[in-house]
Amino acid sequence: MNVSWRSVLARALHYHREPHARYLQLATVSPQGLPHNRTIVFRGFLRDTNIIRLITDKRSAKAEDIKSNPYGEICWYFPKTREQFRLAGSLQLIDYTDPDRQNQWQELSPKAKAQFFWAEPGKPRQAEEFVRECQTSDPPANFCLLLLTPNHVDHLNLRGNPQTRTIYQCQDQDTWTAIEVNP
Ligand SMILES: Cc1cc2nc3c(=O)[nH]c(=O)nc-3n(C[C@H](O)[C@H](O)[C@H](O)COP(=O)(O)O)c2cc1C
Repeated sequence: MNVSWRSVLARALHYHREPHARYLQLATVSPQGLPHNRTIVFRGFLRDTNIIRLITDKRSAKAEDIKSNPYGEICWYFPKTREQFRLAGSLQLIDYTDPDRQNQWQELSPKAKAQFFWAEPGKPRQAEEFVRECQTSDPPANFCLLLLTPNHVDHLNLRGNPQTRTIYQCQDQDTWTAIEVNP
């Protein structure tokens, strides 16, 4: 197994322990073929795999995108080390009973859990009450664990003159190749 991008990303995360370093951008493609992009929180890797854990609401527009095109890309910039990572691959929405989904729900703060009990995202706002905190131990049906399994990683390092850029490509499940390309 040669997944060297994982150790490079782990190093960048090590230098960026602030909560905002876990904010990344996720791009998906709508059923009409249009790009959509939004900020989302990195929740860690799935156990000892290279799979990225994210969460979202099944009622959100991105869930529709993923259902019609289960392919996406995350883009992440680390300012202290001046590195950009773009990880592309397949997206999987887990909205059914599953131990990883259950564990992800347990990890959330009461404030984060409450958002999944709010009125439907993106719909016109009504004079409804928005619950502020929630302690429920089981996730509601609209709570999704969202997994990104990367098969292509583009790492650009702005440090140095010239800058460096490496493309990691997944050959099959756990075998990756890495090539240096022009920045
Ligand atoms: C800092 C920050 C963190 C966010 N984290 C998440 C998240 O973890 N999951 C999520 O679904 N939306 C998150 N959002 C909200 C999304 O950016 C977006 O507004 C929402 O998910 C609706 O997107 P959609 O209509 O494209 O589905 C976050 C927004 C910000 C600004």
